[in-house]
Amino acid sequence: MKRLLAPSILSADFGNLDRDIETVNRSEADWFHLDIMDGVFVPNISYGFPVIKAIAKKAGKPMDAHLMIVDPDRYLQNFKENGVEWLSVHYEACPHLHRSIQHIHDLGMKAGVALNPHTSILLLEDILQELDYVVIMSVNPGFGGQSFIEHSIEKISRMKEMILKKGCNCLIEVDGGVTEKNAAAVAKAGADILVAGSAVFKADDPASAAAKIKAAANA
Ligand code: DX5
Ligand code: ZN
Repeated sequence: MKRLLAPSILSADFGNLDRDIETVNRSEADWFHLDIMDGVFVPNISYGFPVIKAIAKKAGKPMDAHLMIVDPDRYLQNFKENGVEWLSVHYEACPHLHRSIQHIHDLGMKAGVALNPHTSILLLEDILQELDYVVIMSVNPGFGGQSFIEHSIEKISRMKEMILKKGCNCLIEVDGGVTEKNAAAVAKAGADILVAGSAVFKADDPASAAAKIKAAANA
């Protein structure tokens, strides 16, 4: 399968949101990555449903929402109603993870679990068979523009091994500090979906930056 690129709207210019969404629509990027932060699970607040609605109206590609919030169960249906197709919750925020995943599936969305950098992939052993994707955080969640944690490469490889060993169809998404420079290594380690925020939107030409990251991931 071709590796996919999911630009994170967190790094877009919110004063020119329509323009930045249109740039992604016309680029080689595959998805829209939506970072939802509550100021409790992570030390930052991003945006909520009015903005998601505005994105959904213009987005011509699937929306992948990454919930960095406590008690995500309260809002799962709202994400479905706003057109989100891929939805990930954090392992660290879900005491009843299996139930949350079931709920996402019952609503008709693809379900993922995100792992903080310090969280072991072994904790997914008994839920992996239920997942459409795992999100390996390669930065501490909360902010765009941070540096890629190098240890993540090895973690991605171990995740890939575990998926193959179990024979599941689970995809691996890698989120945080992904750039044109490390995209090839991230992909080689086993990533199927690469999230990139600042490497796309802070570039002089976001569409060409997206094309370069995607090419590096598929080289
Ligand atoms: C971090 C977010 C990431 C972030 C990616 O909390 O989950 O999706 O926006 O941005 P960059 O690519 O700039 O690290
Ligand atoms: Zn994210």
